[in-house]
Amino acid sequence: MPELQVDLGRGLRLSNPVGLASGTAGFGFELADLVDLDRIGALYTKGTTRMPRAGNPPPRVAETAGGMLNSIGLQNPGVEHVATVYAPLFSQWRCAVIVNVAGATVDEYVQCVRILDGADGIAGYELNISCPNIAHGLDLGRDPGEAARLTAAVRAVTERCIVVKLSPNVSDIGAVAAAVESAGADAISAVNTFVGLKMHRQARRPVLAGSGTGGLSGPAIKPLAVAAVAAVRAAVRIPVIGVGGIIDTGDAVDFIIAGADAVQIGTATFPDPSTAVRIVDGLTEHLAMVGISHLSELRWHPQEPTIGLFAAAGVAPPP
Ligand SMILES: Cc1cc2nc3c(=O)[nH]c(=O)nc-3n(C[C@H](O)[C@H](O)[C@H](O)COP(=O)(O)O)c2cc1C
Repeated sequence: MPELQVDLGRGLRLSNPVGLASGTAGFGFELADLVDLDRIGALYTKGTTRMPRAGNPPPRVAETAGGMLNSIGLQNPGVEHVATVYAPLFSQWRCAVIVNVAGATVDEYVQCVRILDGADGIAGYELNISCPNIAHGLDLGRDPGEAARLTAAVRAVTERCIVVKLSPNVSDIGAVAAAVESAGADAISAVNTFVGLKMHRQARRPVLAGSGTGGLSGPAIKPLAVAAVAAVRAAVRIPVIGVGGIIDTGDAVDFIIAGADAVQIGTATFPDPSTAVRIVDGLTEHLAMVGISHLSELRWHPQEPTIGLFAAAGVAPPP
């Protein structure tokens, strides 16, 4: 039987690599009637901040070709509520609940994690240093030194697994990945949304309120996200969680070949909440089909000669 378990570090073992991406599954309760949370590996919660946030004014979502733009602006009930009201309920599901944490300063992240660390039911943290939809949301994630400073500060206050979620809106994602690995991150998730802008042709202004820009997600970003994962994999040794545009098992396999140890499903859950569970089953079937027992055996090692495309397809190359 193929083995789907994934070790994210610090004793956090996921039953399978498929998770629901932050911001697309709330805190689990919103989706519990639609998704069998016992079947997925992990639920990454909505970004949680020190104080409650109402988010940005509407309109804050817009469809685009092959994807969507959002400028939710980290709407959440605040860390005290998550720690005291939600966390005790997280253990009702078999999946690991990883709380996504966001802030404008290093101190805000540290305070959030300190408060959450006092609560049971939380398997780990995903530090969102990559939110394009709040003022200064990208500041801590763009510079490797700043990202490392933040990671080290959080590392100092928790023994739980720390996943750092990187922004694709940087010039060298590998440099940021290497910096957070050295500062004590247990795993990296890549990527958050790409900054995008959709215009309203008649109104001659952006469709989204506020600054007008939003984060682009969905199938449109998949090749960009796969490239980011390959760059991160080349830069670090810790587990990498691939996210961006996955809608089926084949997409998840592409991320795993590129170097991901686990994946997250985001936008695809909106039109079809069963996507993540279908991919869990699909990965088991895929491993059985290609005759290997662990996902890591799928990985591409760029430095090694690989089987030619024609040989892989079982056909003779053209003369
Ligand atoms: C509506 C919406 C809200 C999101 N909120 C968060 C968030 O709070 N924290 C975070 O780290 N990422 C957030 N994201 C980014 C996703 O977790 C994911 O990284 C991104 O959407 C790319 O994956 P996808 O193409 O599968 O959706 C959000 C995405 C969407 C669409």
